Amino acid sequence: ARVVVLISGRGSNMAALIEAAKDPAYPAEIVAVLSNRPNAAGLETAAAAGIATAVVDHKDFDGREAFEEKLSAAIESFDPDLVCLAGFMRLLTSGFAEKWRDRLINIHPSLLPSFKGLDTHVRALAAGVKLHGCSVHFVRPEMDAGPLIAQGAVPVLSGDTEETLAARVLAAEHELYPAALALVASGRTRVVGDRVIVEPEED
Ligand code: GRF
Repeated sequence: ARVVVLISGRGSNMAALIEAAKDPAYPAEIVAVLSNRPNAAGLETAAAAGIATAVVDHKDFDGREAFEEKLSAAIESFDPDLVCLAGFMRLLTSGFAEKWRDRLINIHPSLLPSFKGLDTHVRALAAGVKLHGCSVHFVRPEMDAGPLIAQGAVPVLSGDTEETLAARVLAAEHELYPAALALVASGRTRVVGDRVIVEPEED
């Protein structure tokens, strides 16, 4: 499957996908990395890995629709089967989510449906949860919502700060995202209502 990755910053999840896709047996190929921020560090990482990059700067556009029209055109120029959001920090319109329904994937740093939105690690600490983690899901128009493909849990430890907890979750993200993308790219996932059914691997 051809995959375009959308980023806004550091791009460590993008890097984990690129690394996984180096394996010839991996069922997805990262064909391009797009950023809405011209100075996203992940753009250099992608370029160094020999992957095509492009910037569609939201600041160049009047409103979300105009931005997305350009973003869509940029995505489609790479003819992807799937689009992965990896730290992409712009809300997308419902039109965009519908257009890419069940082909648009996001990673979120919490065990959804807990802690949608920003500052998940601070809120998890404040809530006193003992398990936290990350979720990979198909995108629906509502923020951080949609059928869950895979989740990874990590313990919350007594001495945790936002930084230590974030680092533990991020390490789990780097395992989870490539695994979840592989499930989708190999055709093993089926969306049934709000759920994702994962078919067993064929041998
Ligand atoms: C990750 O924690 C991701 O789950 C969240 O934003 C962060 C992006 O990090 N949506 P990176 O750009 O992948 O390093």
